[in-house]
Amino acid sequence: MKLTAASCLLLSLYTNATPTPPNCKHDGRTFNWRTTKSVIAFGDSYTYIQGTLGRTNYTYIGDNFDISFTPEKLFASRIVQNQTATAEGGPNWLEFLTGCGVDPGQHDTRKCEIQLWDFAYAGANTVSQANFTPPHWNHTVSYERQIQQFVDYGNPVLEGIHLKKENALVAIWIGINDINDLAKLRGINATFAPFYEQVQRKVFKGVEKIYNLGYRNFLFMNLPPLDRSPSPSVSASMISAFNNIHTAHAEAFQNKHRESTVLKFDVNYVLNNILDNYQDYGFQNITTNCPGYNQPDIRTDPKKYGCGEGLHTYFWYDSGHLGSRTHEVFTQKLAKWLMKQG
Ligand SMILES: *[C@@H]1O[C@H](CO)[C@@H](O)[C@H](O)[C@H]1NC(C)=O
Ligand SMILES: *[C@@H]1O[C@H](CO)[C@@H](O)[C@H](O)[C@H]1NC(C)=O
Ligand SMILES: *[C@@H]1O[C@H](CO)[C@@H](O)[C@H](O)[C@H]1NC(C)=O
Ligand SMILES: *[C@@H]1O[C@H](CO)[C@@H](O)[C@H](O)[C@H]1NC(C)=O
Ligand SMILES: *[C@@H]1O[C@H](CO)[C@@H](O)[C@H](O)[C@H]1NC(C)=O
Repeated sequence: MKLTAASCLLLSLYTNATPTPPNCKHDGRTFNWRTTKSVIAFGDSYTYIQGTLGRTNYTYIGDNFDISFTPEKLFASRIVQNQTATAEGGPNWLEFLTGCGVDPGQHDTRKCEIQLWDFAYAGANTVSQANFTPPHWNHTVSYERQIQQFVDYGNPVLEGIHLKKENALVAIWIGINDINDLAKLRGINATFAPFYEQVQRKVFKGVEKIYNLGYRNFLFMNLPPLDRSPSPSVSASMISAFNNIHTAHAEAFQNKHRESTVLKFDVNYVLNNILDNYQDYGFQNITTNCPGYNQPDIRTDPKKYGCGEGLHTYFWYDSGHLGSRTHEVFTQKLAKWLMKQG
């Protein structure tokens, strides 16, 4: 009891808040979705958003040739929404969740009701490491480097605008490239558990760094059902092994830091459930992607590409990415679930 009260106070010191933050509960936990003012994200193409000052098709800000940025530069980058600004052909889950960057055009995240600070990099693995999970390109910022970028540049900038850490949610969705790359490198029948362990140790080493900066609210997404994607390179049992190891690490982190809030959203279950009942959600095609998904006129003339009523009826956008509407559908469920968590 004493300990948790102390950590509650400690938290208010970090954040210049009033001595007892209004949403500081008896156990020291501060998460409350209704009062969340910012989402800070790390991950891969599922999570990345396009910034006007980021690398086109990869990031909101910076790349591995230069992960640094000034406050002026971070604030000047605008979230872009257009056909090629995400890996889904439209808004992604974080844009739907925060409401920041959903409409076509450019958006200033500081003007959003829930600010979205997104450091994810399309194509990122947890670590860029030869013979394990090598970088997809020489400009790729791995999750590990995204965290370093946040420690060195992102957090100082956000502290400069007095971002309230108790009202921030740190969202992490990583591992999709890891599991695919490991399968390709090692062959489908390898013993993967030790590799997945290594990946999760790195993931949570990063989470510790964010925790040490004073952030207390964490959202983890597990792997989606890649085994049901148009051309899977992994099996359901590999996904489930990866997700179980991820869950164990998330639980260990929660046990170690009892005053933090560790939210584990089982997006794998949710997406499998949507797939199993796809007609209820207006999807017509869950096995393949529309062949013309990336054509400039796909929205106006889907029939030209044999894609029926259009992209919004496809669960998958391309061979490895969920469609934008799929993001919207699962994010509605995520938002409801977050409401119930605090
Ligand atoms: C989307 O925005 C990006 C970044 O501003 C730009 O490079 C790209 O050409 C735009 N794409 C379309 C289809 O307008
Ligand atoms: C970004 O991706 C689109 C396709 O989605 C492509 O047409 C465009 O050339 C890419 N831009 C750059 C700078 O890589
Ligand atoms: C990065 O890779 C590209 C393509 O392989 C190459 O053209 C470029 O010179 C490389 N850049 C650096 C700085 O190594
Ligand atoms: C993997 O194992 C399965 C079941 O034992 C076997 O049928 C398959 O041929 C193996 N595949 C490879 C690529 O070794
Ligand atoms: C799904 O889409 C593909 C590509 O457009 C098409 O070939 C296939 O017939 C569709 N399947 C169903 C069940 O509509």
